Amino acid sequence: MIDLDTKEFYDEFWPKHVPIYEKTKAYMLETITERQVGRALDAGCGHGICSVVLSELADTVTAVDLSTDSLATAREQAARFGRGNISFHHQDLQTLAPEFRAFDLVWCWGVAMMAPDPMKVMHNLMRATAPGGTVYLGLYLKTWLSPVHQGVRHFCRRFMNTPRRKKLVLDFFAGLTNLVCRLRGQEINRRDDNVSIQAQVDDWYYPPYKTFYSIEEILDLFRRNGFEASCIQDRLGRMKSATIFVVRAVKQAQA
Ligand SMILES: C[S@@+](CC[C@H](N)C(=O)[O-])C[C@H]1O[C@@H](n2cnc3c(N)ncnc32)[C@H](O)[C@@H]1O
Repeated sequence: MIDLDTKEFYDEFWPKHVPIYEKTKAYMLETITERQVGRALDAGCGHGICSVVLSELADTVTAVDLSTDSLATAREQAARFGRGNISFHHQDLQTLAPEFRAFDLVWCWGVAMMAPDPMKVMHNLMRATAPGGTVYLGLYLKTWLSPVHQGVRHFCRRFMNTPRRKKLVLDFFAGLTNLVCRLRGQEINRRDDNVSIQAQVDDWYYPPYKTFYSIEEILDLFRRNGFEASCIQDRLGRMKSATIFVVRAVKQAQA
């Protein structure tokens, strides 16, 4: 069963906003410790740029996503960079097929918390990891602002979701960001690897599902399932986002 709401959102989003390869690569090489990997899984590959970077570290990359238009974009990126060791699959990570297994490295950045049932995704990622393999999981951090964010997001999706209204919201937040930054004499905190503030606002307020987590509950989840886990980035990194943390978890041999 494919989550059709999320599919629809990313079918629209990724074909229009492919990140800059060099920026994504720099971030991934900073984040991933391993340099020679056998089988890698890009879980929720979206635009496919992360799959391209992984394919330079791994013998083979299996890239899955539920958005067919994103997968088409990802295939174009693999061709553009001449990478022949990536296979693409239409899968919902909540119901990931059992043959997706024994991966030495699992990359799942900005994906699991977009599912209606993120725990199903996380359990499937743990199941798909080979003993000794490593999971890199990037999730939204739960803070006191998370309920405010959820309120605005539900409002936007419910009442401001026609093309004209959505444009109003995106332009409003872009204008507000410009104004606040100008008044503070700051530069706008633009996401390195995306094109416009409007696109950032879209990706922030319009995805159909979002769940925020504490670092402790995710570390605990991995540890209970036989992984050695640590938080390697807390509100830093790729998207200069104050809300993402990244956990690195290694599956113990007996898990
Ligand atoms: C924010 S994007 C992240 C893309 C990429 N991982 C990156 O770091 O740039 C989220 C991606 O996850 C995919 N996705 C969300 N829920 C999913 C699910 N349940 N199964 C598979 N893919 C999913 C979306 O289609 C989208 O391409």
